[in-house]
Amino acid sequence: MTKMFDAIIVGGGVIGSSIAYHMAARGMKVVLLERDRLAGQASNAAAGMLAAQAEINEAGPLFELALRSRALFPSLAAQLRELSGIDIGLERKGLLRIATTVAQMNELQHAIEFQRKAGQQASWLTGREVRKLERALAPDILGAMLVEEDGHVLAPELSLAFAKAAAALGADIREYAEVQSLVLEQGSVCGVRIRDTTLYGSRVVIASGTWSGPLMEQAGLSSPVFPVQGECFSVLTHAPLVQATIFGDDCYLVPKKGGRLIVGATMREHSYDRKVTLGGIGKLLEAAKLLVPDIVHAEWEKAWSGLRPQTADGLPFLGEHKELRGLYVAAGHYRNGILLSPITGQLAADWAEGKAAEADYLDAFRLDRQMDMKGAMNQDEFAH
Ligand code: FAD
Ligand code: GLY
Repeated sequence: MTKMFDAIIVGGGVIGSSIAYHMAARGMKVVLLERDRLAGQASNAAAGMLAAQAEINEAGPLFELALRSRALFPSLAAQLRELSGIDIGLERKGLLRIATTVAQMNELQHAIEFQRKAGQQASWLTGREVRKLERALAPDILGAMLVEEDGHVLAPELSLAFAKAAAALGADIREYAEVQSLVLEQGSVCGVRIRDTTLYGSRVVIASGTWSGPLMEQAGLSSPVFPVQGECFSVLTHAPLVQATIFGDDCYLVPKKGGRLIVGATMREHSYDRKVTLGGIGKLLEAAKLLVPDIVHAEWEKAWSGLRPQTADGLPFLGEHKELRGLYVAAGHYRNGILLSPITGQLAADWAEGKAAEADYLDAFRLDRQMDMKGAMNQDEFAH
């Protein structure tokens, strides 16, 4: 088996797979290393929302990154379908961010103001207007912010499509290949070790989601990535209950093709425990019933959980190590890794080609930024 590569990518989630795809598309010889099965962790658990505007309501680098990434999806869906044969299930039927209290209504009015100032579409619908659009919504909903551009995809399919498309372009994809250590030499990275094998490459990208910490520490980067566990469930109905994504304060409902509805998600910091609890699912169901009462008549499909990779300041790490030439990190995408995967892949391919960062806002994601570590060090688990 070949042992020399232009780039070695560690982690076969949506981020590593997107990087492999974008690098392979630019003619690089890459290997993607996954310690288990591809897309077996957070990227398999995600609801797949591309909620650039619904999840981010303040100006800044993350908002900029999210908008740019969301815009890449339509052409990406076509490219991935052609190369991998996989339909990533891109839906662009909008998102309704629901208000059930006056305080939420005021908050959403501010959000709409912000979105419009930022040049984005967002509009307010009264309770009556929103129910005209979505008849299954509860009668006591006061109104909603409609975001027409926030769609969604099938997260596991997206992740696998990136990997399959990368393979079609010549990338070497290896499952059950756990990277134990980096190989460092005279201020550069030159490979990785997997059990008794060494793979060589002048570029190594750590894209190992929640588990990026140990490899980052080997490179002297001490800011941790930590897990925020989230549970979801899905139900089936003959006719779809809703068309748009319904986003409330305590849950969201994402309608997929075939009458499938995903309801997510709980939040539990610093927990690597992936078990699904009745308490977690029960709370989601109670919250979902308040938004769409008829969900109680839907057929149960399944429940699952995953670990969102979070950082102390809530921003991902994206960039090259300041001292170790050729070492890059793309990790910590937290609640938005599916949304941010296309732009992350593009950026990583740019780094590998030696292209300077095209915009100042990317500086916010640098690996050596100073952070308040309090959030990261708090070991208390949130109760559901
Ligand atoms: P992962 O998918 O966790 O992949 C990392 C991979 O690295 C894993 O497969 C792991 O096995 C592998 N690995 C680790 N260490 C090594 C090693 N040493 N060697 C080899 N391989 C290694 N995002 C959105 O944009 N929209 C959503 O609607 C959304 N919903 C979500 C709902 C839930 C319940 C959860 C949990 C997350 C959600 N997210 C969403 C967030 C999104 O899932 C993550 O941000 C994203 O999947 C992170 O991708 P990743 O590739 O960095 O991590
Ligand atoms: N972005 C949705 C979630 O992380 O639950």
